[in-house]
Amino acid sequence: MLVFKNAQDFQRWHKEQKESLALVPTMGALHEGHLSLVRKAKELADKVVLYIFVNPMQFGPKEDFGTYPRTPEADLEACKQAGVNAVFMPEMADIYPEGKENCTKVLPPAELGDILEGHFRPGFFTGVATVLVKFFNIVQPNVVVFGQKDYQQLLVVKRFVHDLNLPVTVYGASIVREPDGLAMSSRNAYLNKDQRALAPRIHALLQEASSKIKDQNDNTAIEKNLDIIRQKFKDASFELHYLEVRDADTLQPISNNTKTRILLVAAKIENIRLIDNLLVN
Ligand code: PAF
Repeated sequence: MLVFKNAQDFQRWHKEQKESLALVPTMGALHEGHLSLVRKAKELADKVVLYIFVNPMQFGPKEDFGTYPRTPEADLEACKQAGVNAVFMPEMADIYPEGKENCTKVLPPAELGDILEGHFRPGFFTGVATVLVKFFNIVQPNVVVFGQKDYQQLLVVKRFVHDLNLPVTVYGASIVREPDGLAMSSRNAYLNKDQRALAPRIHALLQEASSKIKDQNDNTAIEKNLDIIRQKFKDASFELHYLEVRDADTLQPISNNTKTRILLVAAKIENIRLIDNLLVN
């Protein structure tokens, strides 16, 4: 497995490649969820490139950029075991040579980028879209693989790829869960024993919400049922940022034109913020 620490070296290698490339973008602290993306990427292209870069532009001033888990040795070992062909782990100056404030930015449309996660984390999707356009340009993958746990992020990526005519296929891979239902996330590493015991309630309450609303079409009745679940989150001592049912294609409120509905949640256990989602059958 090759490891590149700057863009020029990576691009020199890339120029010699004749085969198709799949990219798995990550911020490291790799877990089974990331490795499932690698497995999918191997099915979709001849070679797999995984990048590791904790992107400061997508963190708010009060968020966890400084403490975000960084485990480079374990990550490299996991990549080797998973059969990744090349790991790209650039320095900050390689990605933001003029600093992140002075960098040209990619601004996702407000209808998608300023709702839900974007409402609670202003600037988050600008940071994500900007860094991804940079990596897409450096790596020039044929296909890029994301997890559906960050469902809104996946739609933002599909949208800027479409809007900016980027020549890459975006693939969304299923959520990987712990046996008790907790969606895998690098931030799960922050949970202490009690918090870890509480965290699977998020998925359980999503399932309960889904079974309550799956046969309902009346918005007032749906909202009433969601209010019951919102209260259950609070009773279980989560700080609920949102629990919403949306159109899975647009993330707009559901309407008669909605084909597929999705439940999306963001909830905090003390200072640890977790997100999850569930397609409503
Ligand atoms: O989902 C993530 O880990 C990050 O948002 C991403 C896509 C690697 C961009 O920094």
